[in-house]
Amino acid sequence: MSKKKATLSVEGREDIELPVYEPTLGQDVVDVTGLTAQGLFTYDPGFQSTGACESRITFIDGAKGKLLHRGYSIEELAAKSDYLEVSYLLLYGELPTEEQKETFVNTVKNHTMVHEQLRVFFNGFRRDAHPMAIMCGVVGALSAFYHDSLDIHDARHREVTALRLIAKMPTIAAMCYKYAQGQPFMYPRNDLDYAENFLHMMFGVPCEETKISPTLARAMDRIFILHADHEQNASTSTVRLAGSSGANPFACIAAGISALWGPAHGGANEAVLNMLEEIGEPANVEKFIDRAKDKNDPFKLMGFGHRVYKNYDPRATVMRESCHEVLNELGVQDPKLELAMKLEEIALNDPYFKEKKLFPNVDFYSGIILSAIGIPTSMFTVIFALSRTVGWVAHWNEMISNTYKIGRPRQLYTGQTEREFVPLKERK
Ligand code: ACO
Repeated sequence: MSKKKATLSVEGREDIELPVYEPTLGQDVVDVTGLTAQGLFTYDPGFQSTGACESRITFIDGAKGKLLHRGYSIEELAAKSDYLEVSYLLLYGELPTEEQKETFVNTVKNHTMVHEQLRVFFNGFRRDAHPMAIMCGVVGALSAFYHDSLDIHDARHREVTALRLIAKMPTIAAMCYKYAQGQPFMYPRNDLDYAENFLHMMFGVPCEETKISPTLARAMDRIFILHADHEQNASTSTVRLAGSSGANPFACIAAGISALWGPAHGGANEAVLNMLEEIGEPANVEKFIDRAKDKNDPFKLMGFGHRVYKNYDPRATVMRESCHEVLNELGVQDPKLELAMKLEEIALNDPYFKEKKLFPNVDFYSGIILSAIGIPTSMFTVIFALSRTVGWVAHWNEMISNTYKIGRPRQLYTGQTEREFVPLKERK
């Protein structure tokens, strides 16, 4: 029970005492759940000041630019761990022992193939469909294929679903790409690690052996880690909300993928690259910065700003370093990197961006690395979805395994008051 209390004074009413919770890290939280019984509720569009759940998975300190998964910093995880180890950490709460890791990796590998009938499902899509559109449909359809693990109240079913999703997302993501290319789908190879296998399914062809660059596989794995989870963002909250109605996990993850697609969220990585292409050369940067500051222009600097970070996004720092490393190791000179650095430098020194605390976010540099790996722009958000699946499923599982209520926000109604129905002939 909380020892601290907050008092709410509303004109014409008696003061209301509200419990205040102290988290292990972060700001105090005022519990307003009792307000409805008092004939009041709170108004917070965009959930700027609202915590919708209790969670033990990820902590962000936006002012300090800090991101922790189960207490471990993202910088350390990106440098010392790998994606499947981070996935284990997110799902089970602790880093695995050697034996636990081996079992986990082998189990994930045992689930990498998709049902053969799912391959046929792809044929219903146009070849020029956006891969995110295909991914939303295919992931939602998984519930039609894996009936044996859909009891959300059975912990083992939830675990099997989590493993299936983590294992199958790279296969589905690569299939989305191959379908657009008109190339045959590649079966997963379980002798490869997670990132290598994804690159094999993306770029391999059945008529020759796939050669996978260890540099690219490492860069890919790091991208997966940096996107693995980010507490209650729009897509994760969507997954939780969909899950709170008891919907099956595949449908919930498909809902998360849809929420991620928007350019204000995961779609920003694709939008950053399109923006860099539109800017074209460093001489044009100032013009675009001016547009971003113009209230009458809807243009925003993509890859800049964040609801929670009012400091450098720590993932962007790692991504920036990774970007230089990858391009150096590959010997690639990408003018887009030069352009991005120039844009970043000008924006960081501009009073508008300084005052509004707008810093580069994770998506600012990821597109440049993905391009260097050979991934087309339309696949960027698909890769984000693949990486974030473990975060979504960890949050969904956390919610279902604890006490939860269906998510059902209220509203500030400003429509018509009650009025009488006017028959059609009498309406003017
Ligand atoms: N360029 C120019 N101005 C910006 C930008 C930007 N990228 N981002 C925010 N602002 C301005 C807003 O216009 C607003 O100005 P005002 O106070 O004068 O009205 C102020 O900064 C605050 O911004 P909001 O939009 O109110 O902040 P919010 O928390 O609602 O939005 C968001 C955050 C959606 C990320 C926003 O910064 C944005 O659209 N950025 C560009 C898209 C992007 O990179 N998204 C990826 C986010 S990270 C992720 O999801 C992985």
